[in-house]
Amino acid sequence: MPASDDPSRESKPRRRSSYWLDGDDINGFNHRARLKPNGFSDEALLNRPIIGIANTWSELVGCNVHLRQLADAAKRGVLQAGGLPLEFPVLSLSETLMKPNAMMYRQLAAMDVESSIHAHPLDAVVLLGSCDKTTPALLMGASSANVPAILVTGGPALVGNWQGKEAGSGTDFWRVSYDVRAGKVSKEEYREFESSLCRSVGHCMEMATAMSMAVAGEALGIALPDNAAIPAVDSRRLVLAERSGRRAVELAEAGVRPRDIMTKDAFQNAIRVIMAIGGSTNAVIHLLAIAGRLGVPLSLDDFAAEKGIPVLANLRPSGEHLLERFFYAGGVQALMAEMAPLLNRESMTVNGKTIGENLEGRRSLDHEVIRPSSNPINPCGAIAVLKGNLAPDGAVMKRSAADPELFTHYGPAFVFENVYELNEKLDDPDLPITSEHIIVLKGGGPVGAPGLPEWGHIPIPGKLVAQGVKDMVRISDSRISGGSHGAMIVHVSPEAAVGGPIAAVQTGDMIRLDVEAGLLEVEISDEEIARRISERPPTKRHYRRGWGAIYLDQVQQTHLGADFGILRAIEGEEPPDLPDLPIGLIEGWVLGD
Ligand code: FES
Repeated sequence: MPASDDPSRESKPRRRSSYWLDGDDINGFNHRARLKPNGFSDEALLNRPIIGIANTWSELVGCNVHLRQLADAAKRGVLQAGGLPLEFPVLSLSETLMKPNAMMYRQLAAMDVESSIHAHPLDAVVLLGSCDKTTPALLMGASSANVPAILVTGGPALVGNWQGKEAGSGTDFWRVSYDVRAGKVSKEEYREFESSLCRSVGHCMEMATAMSMAVAGEALGIALPDNAAIPAVDSRRLVLAERSGRRAVELAEAGVRPRDIMTKDAFQNAIRVIMAIGGSTNAVIHLLAIAGRLGVPLSLDDFAAEKGIPVLANLRPSGEHLLERFFYAGGVQALMAEMAPLLNRESMTVNGKTIGENLEGRRSLDHEVIRPSSNPINPCGAIAVLKGNLAPDGAVMKRSAADPELFTHYGPAFVFENVYELNEKLDDPDLPITSEHIIVLKGGGPVGAPGLPEWGHIPIPGKLVAQGVKDMVRISDSRISGGSHGAMIVHVSPEAAVGGPIAAVQTGDMIRLDVEAGLLEVEISDEEIARRISERPPTKRHYRRGWGAIYLDQVQQTHLGADFGILRAIEGEEPPDLPDLPIGLIEGWVLGD
């Protein structure tokens, strides 16, 4: 019986999938027939919401390698609720293995997700992501498709352990690598460390980018409560995936779409939670990009407006602990409960309850890890937004992971024109640099690098490491890892490659940083900046064909989320629900006519 003949559905909107699967014409026949190789009976296939399981599983992405098991759990939930789950692969993105960098492929994955959802007979979708770029790519694609969606992330990996101490893959990786550089750790020990660090499936186990985006998903309301913090290997993550599958069927039937959940109020909640949890600067870029897909007006000013939100989570790199303890302390819901007066509690979430309703009865179970608002680990938000003639469209700094002594700094620039020059000279014992200098690295932006890599984590020069310098101001038009620690100002926009003022800075120019005032200035006149930029050689175009060429033609600057302009929502237009062209081969041809 076609769904349109089902009397129980009379008062409900027509299912999206029914445009493909209902009907006795050649199209209904053809669409149903092509799903039958799965072994579906008519009873399994017809009159049910079809729930896609968008899976970024890949053996090339260690952080996502357990997602097949989560997909099975989600499918179980879909079946329990009367839906039919259909799993499909989407491009996965390994933060470490992909070259030149995973960020350059975020939009490609997001286009894959959007197209896979939009082009197929899906009534809702479960989004399975884990490693840094997979979660934002899924959310960007699902936002553009605007078909009901629910996010399930992979969860943090087991904490590393080395030489009797806990180790985090996104923070101790940097620390120990510095120690190798300083000759404090041998090559053999480094090798041993390598095997001690990533000892289970799951994403990085500190408040780095993967966890920040999982947290953002929960705060946005697009994931079920508790999604972010359950460890990857904890059986409760499978339970959560099963529940998410069940809930996806209900979302499909109710027609609740990403645009209904991820509103401006929801983004304000996400920003506030990112500020309070010590979130990654990369979350700024991804949230801007996701909002752009939804048509939600969001800019760096919205992040600057939340600078007074105190940091409550004592988690690396802003604090001391790793994510397993965060889960035991109550996870994101406990943190949100501690800051509840600061949140838009009426915002709706995918479980059908408001943020405020979800927080009832929740509290921090360990005030060492999730502090009460009366005793924050930092009285100001984790991320500062900076502007000035050096970054007219903005820059950001993870202030909660930097030495506060450097928040006000006036010093001479020490410029590296590109990353090759930096790599060549940084450890030169005769480098004429002091800790008062401000290192400036150019050429790390979306166009210049290209792809906006994490080159902004500029190591302290070897000569200064030997002097015991632990932190210094570093500026770039690039990004940093969410696990990075130090006074690194990143996302300088516009970037050098498109003629941003950072291109004009020369060694010896005086730079003024005032984090409290949100100021980043270089003491050069506008005329001198324009003159120097006009004398620079044209930016090298790194790609002339393929994805690289498309990327270079379309990518926007970092303050806009480094997304493609062509992929942002069009003001005043709803995304089309069905593909633009007729779904059928030959419209209206009924078998037997
Ligand atoms: Fe995948 Fe850190 S490398 S989450």
